[in-house]
Amino acid sequence: PVVGVPMPHESAALHVTGTALYTDDLVYRTKDVLHAYPVQVMKAHGRITALRTEPALAVPGVVRVLTGADVPGVNDAGMKHDEPLFPDEVMFHGHAVAWVLGETLEAARLGAAAVQVELEELPSLITLQDAIEAGSFHGARPVMETGDIDAGFADSAHVFTGEFQFAGQEHFYLETHAALAQVDENGQVFVQSSTQHPSETQEIVSHVLGVPAHEVTVQCLRMGGGFGGKEMQPHGFAAVAALGAKLTGRPVRFRLNRTQDLTMSGKRHGFHATWKIGFDADGRIQALDATLVADGGWSLDLSEPVLARALCHIDNTYWIPNARVAGRIAKTNTVSNTAFRGFGGPQGMLVIEDILGRCAPRLGLDPMELRERNFYQPGQGQTTPYGQPVTQAERISTVWQQVKDGAGIADRRREIAAFNAAHPHTKRALALTGIKFGISFNLTAFNQGGALVLIYKDGSVLINHGGTEMGQGLHTKMMQVAATTLGIPLHKVRLAPTRTDKVPNTSATAASSGADLNGGAIKNACEQLRERLVQVAATQLGGNASDVRIVEGVARVLGSDKELAWDDLVRTAYFQRVQLSAAGFYRTEGLHWDARTFRGSPFKYFAHGAAATEVEVDGFTGAYRIRRVDIVHDVGDSLSPLIDIGQVEGGFVQGAGWLTLEDLRWDVSDGPHRGRLLTQAASTYKLPSFSEMPEEFNVTLLENATEEGAVYGSKAVGEPPLMLAFSVREALRQAAAAFGPSGVDVELASPATPEAVYWAIQAARRGG
Ligand code: MTE
Ligand code: MOS
Repeated sequence: PVVGVPMPHESAALHVTGTALYTDDLVYRTKDVLHAYPVQVMKAHGRITALRTEPALAVPGVVRVLTGADVPGVNDAGMKHDEPLFPDEVMFHGHAVAWVLGETLEAARLGAAAVQVELEELPSLITLQDAIEAGSFHGARPVMETGDIDAGFADSAHVFTGEFQFAGQEHFYLETHAALAQVDENGQVFVQSSTQHPSETQEIVSHVLGVPAHEVTVQCLRMGGGFGGKEMQPHGFAAVAALGAKLTGRPVRFRLNRTQDLTMSGKRHGFHATWKIGFDADGRIQALDATLVADGGWSLDLSEPVLARALCHIDNTYWIPNARVAGRIAKTNTVSNTAFRGFGGPQGMLVIEDILGRCAPRLGLDPMELRERNFYQPGQGQTTPYGQPVTQAERISTVWQQVKDGAGIADRRREIAAFNAAHPHTKRALALTGIKFGISFNLTAFNQGGALVLIYKDGSVLINHGGTEMGQGLHTKMMQVAATTLGIPLHKVRLAPTRTDKVPNTSATAASSGADLNGGAIKNACEQLRERLVQVAATQLGGNASDVRIVEGVARVLGSDKELAWDDLVRTAYFQRVQLSAAGFYRTEGLHWDARTFRGSPFKYFAHGAAATEVEVDGFTGAYRIRRVDIVHDVGDSLSPLIDIGQVEGGFVQGAGWLTLEDLRWDVSDGPHRGRLLTQAASTYKLPSFSEMPEEFNVTLLENATEEGAVYGSKAVGEPPLMLAFSVREALRQAAAAFGPSGVDVELASPATPEAVYWAIQAARRGG
């Protein structure tokens, strides 16, 4: 079988030789392309009182200026209809209000600079704190309740309260937002877009153009990273290109430069949390009362489902018998925050991990011990706060124990204690954290996937599916699934770019469900084809169809040594007029979710993992190093182990970046640049790079982990490992605490930059 064999990413050679094509590379293969350039208004909030485009049209090379007046359909870029594509009101610093089309990029840029916008400035809310104080919220206000929190607090020996505000994160995909739109002689629109959700890009483009969906085809060849940032945000951009192409009859492209991308597109939601937690005398959680506020930015975008996932993950690996968790979405004058790897899950889980990290010293318990005591227990019928049974609770302690043993935790903690005793100005710490992450979209309807598999007369196979490739290796896995199901070598299988005219009504490639959903659909299509081919083989070889096996491209009947090669089998099938194409479909069974009562079983299963991180912190500066990381992660039976290990490593490092380095700053002054994103380049926004990699990095996939009911026993991998990086943050907290008296409770800002760690050390020295 091809599934489960370690192999490189199907485009690895193209990636590393610079020959892989991304959306904007297609421009150089297209004639007469116009360049689109945004007219950004550099004020945080204001009503547009005049928009003068004539000066732009006077710039040589400018062909047209697109404004709201040009929109034949709906002037809106979002699914919630709160996101005007060409707004009358500037809602954040850098909001694009018009787009200029030019013969060259430079002409379009000069044209955009010439457009005159007059603004009646309005008061703005920049920070989450400002919005909360002003009562500025939008969208749903979910409340998740279980048990009886009053009784839970009454039964608690210890009750603690706190507040925690933490930052969002910039996606910083290598390829910025890009699209190329063309119109053919029938007015059919073809858009190449760097999008995780081609079907929704198609939907938005068609409603902006005021045409039915069948007049718009969206293709995504591959993305240079998406990380959730291209789940909803590409639609409006693609619509601008499509509108330009429709109006001029010429191909229109754009690719945001880095600063445009940073200042115009949404990020991970920062959150504010207030909490009250009760523990019994042994440190077991009795009750949790919390309110989470997500910084939604100016429009809703995906904020509601992101918030829902945050609430659904506040329990992480811990049983909370009595809980009441409320959620709100703040409306601020900043970019519209959106999906980002983990989709709110990391934010919910960070809250409980922060609570436990802070309460352990107050309870007089070792943080590792406190975490273990609160794990979901197998066989007790425990459910999550939203009512889903935790059916694989034993996995939580299995991966945890494997990390503990494999990383030699007990010995290393003794060594660290000795090191710390001998080093007054340098401290080390080792923290262990685990994860439980729900797999499936909360909204049940999204849990479907489609595929179209074609076998040509020469025996070669072309697969189409609804998922998009953003570097995560989905296509590699899908080729492995097709080859395995058909029983042919991998080189017989080729994969076509994702297109809405091959597979309709697809879900976003998101929620880590790409391989589950599209793999299920490809397997379904290939099974139909195999069924037909097996019949043909049985007649050719003599025997029963049920005894035919196709293995590595050869069909045989059990108990006979006659053989039929795949290519001959396919040719024979063709001459027998057997259909050689099949559409496949998959939907995840057994899911239900009621968004109103906030109860149900929205997830097919949970992904599990545990990580141990050792850090060393310098007491003079707060600077730190990650000395060693050990991870055991549960991907079921891996479809593609090299890909999965890459996902675990990449996810972990991206999580560590969010929690320790990446620091989004806005101008919050009342000066002329209020609301401006200050960290709008790689020079000021610090991303993890080689020098921040763990010095020793051991990633192991959990063995014998077959997941029944998922494609070839595999589990989703894309997002969960990001949250293993909580271990980095907790290790930093413990290292800072080691500078103070024993048992000190350390509050640590997030991101825990060296500066933040320095302040935590100072506070620890003062006794907390
Ligand atoms: N890995 C790479 N290299 N690039 C990406 O953009 N996106 C992540 C994750 N891994 C991403 C990635 C996110 S946010 C998700 S939801 C999943 O991949 C999506 O792909 P999958 O469903 O196929 O796992
Ligand atoms: Mo991933 S945040 O679900 O695109």
